[in-house]
Amino acid sequence: TRPLLIAPSILSADFAKLGEEVRAVDAAGGDWIHIDVMDGHFVPNITMGPDIVKAIRPHSAKVFDVHLMIAPVDPYLEAFAKAGADVISIHAEATPHFHRSLQTIRSLGKKAGVVLNPGTHETVIEPVLDLVDLVLLMTVNPGFGGQAFIGSVCEKIRRIKAMVGDRDIDIEVDGGVTVETAPLVAEAGANVLVAGSATFKGGPAAYAGNIAAIREAA
Ligand code: DX5
Ligand code: ZN
Repeated sequence: TRPLLIAPSILSADFAKLGEEVRAVDAAGGDWIHIDVMDGHFVPNITMGPDIVKAIRPHSAKVFDVHLMIAPVDPYLEAFAKAGADVISIHAEATPHFHRSLQTIRSLGKKAGVVLNPGTHETVIEPVLDLVDLVLLMTVNPGFGGQAFIGSVCEKIRRIKAMVGDRDIDIEVDGGVTVETAPLVAEAGANVLVAGSATFKGGPAAYAGNIAAIREAA
């Protein structure tokens, strides 16, 4: 069984002190730093670009898990790789050429992830399984933190777990992960849990307790 990892999403951090926030969730026991990149086009919100990733890179040595919600995505892969991403995940819905994009991410020396919206069937990942290090299942429709968990995705997690078999692939979930929902996704087979609002609620003094509570619940 793969190690269970908690990935605080800095979408819920205080953007006015992002470096400090990254250091705080690192010190509080976050395993990966999840970075949500939105373009106001693929999703109805705009967040951060490669320069922000570069600016926060010196604040943590942990894995930078970059979730790209942008279309087109290909022109920006190299910039995120150079900015310090370790894992780069792209949405299957964002490009008709996601096989090519995954090859590009690997050629940049980074781990490649493919993301599926709640309404996207997992059959699209079967042809690219040998090109991915991670499958990210959205458990909300992407765009905002703090949305309600979509429980029906758990069945899809189970099917993907079976499809992945013994390949070296992480299964990550993103959206509405809390102490209540963490056990559901872990039981279904997810091993990387993104948590935005559930990590950052209560301010810096609460981060360590929040992360530990999600880990224990899972
Ligand atoms: C949503 C983002 C998530 C978001 C999750 O589009 O991809 O990473 O930060 O936030 P919570 O954990 O609050 O649902
Ligand atoms: Zn995300």
